[in-house]
Amino acid sequence: MHLPDILASIITKTENFVRNELEGEGSGHDWWHIHRVRNTALMLAEKEAADLFVVELAALLHDIADHKFHNGDDTVGPKVAGEWLEGLSVEAEIIKHVQEIIRDLSFKGAKVATPMRTIEGKVVQDADRLDAIGAIGIARAFAYGGHKNRELYNPEKSPTQHTSFDAYKNDAGPTVNHFYEKLFLLKDRMNTETGKSIAQERHEYMKAYIDRFNAEWDGKA
Ligand code: ADP
Ligand code: NI
Repeated sequence: MHLPDILASIITKTENFVRNELEGEGSGHDWWHIHRVRNTALMLAEKEAADLFVVELAALLHDIADHKFHNGDDTVGPKVAGEWLEGLSVEAEIIKHVQEIIRDLSFKGAKVATPMRTIEGKVVQDADRLDAIGAIGIARAFAYGGHKNRELYNPEKSPTQHTSFDAYKNDAGPTVNHFYEKLFLLKDRMNTETGKSIAQERHEYMKAYIDRFNAEWDGKA
């Protein structure tokens, strides 16, 4: 499906902007994460008959200024994305929608609901979450942990089921805990049927990996 030239040019400019900002980033939030999320989001959007322009813009801009790299401030991302899109004279309604998606997208703790209002938001959230699990999800989690100087695993520190975004954000526990605090929970928090079925397979792969990790830790493999 082809977008009219004006929309295609907004996408290309946005892609170049994001690529330039995130190229070479070392915590698993680099350009190639955005590239994968965009492709997955567009695939889900076609199936769900969502607005492709909004989905593509939100996928491209969703990590442009993530709270994890701005002292937990989750207002910077929507602000930067909004200013960028205003500069391209994108319609105000579309800008608002993209900002809302970026604002609501993130995981905020095991016991914190993160509902998306629109189908466009639901598919971008599913796409972002699919990139957090499976083989790539494992790689990203340890990359992030290294970037933040976290331990791989520490049997003396148990995972927490966070009840608030603040508690979740401020936890600096070992990376293996993140599997129990977020990654293993994602398969039950997918919005779309296609997302659910891909998540199930990636979940099982990740589970097998952590079982093996534990077996090696205990000297049983
Ligand atoms: P979200 O906005 O839902 O956090 P992102 O695309 O910004 O999604 O990236 C989330 C990814 O960052 C996680 O799936 C994981 O790979 C990494 N990450 C975030 N917090 C941690 C953590 N405490 N330990 C290990 N990895 C983490
Ligand atoms: Ni992301």
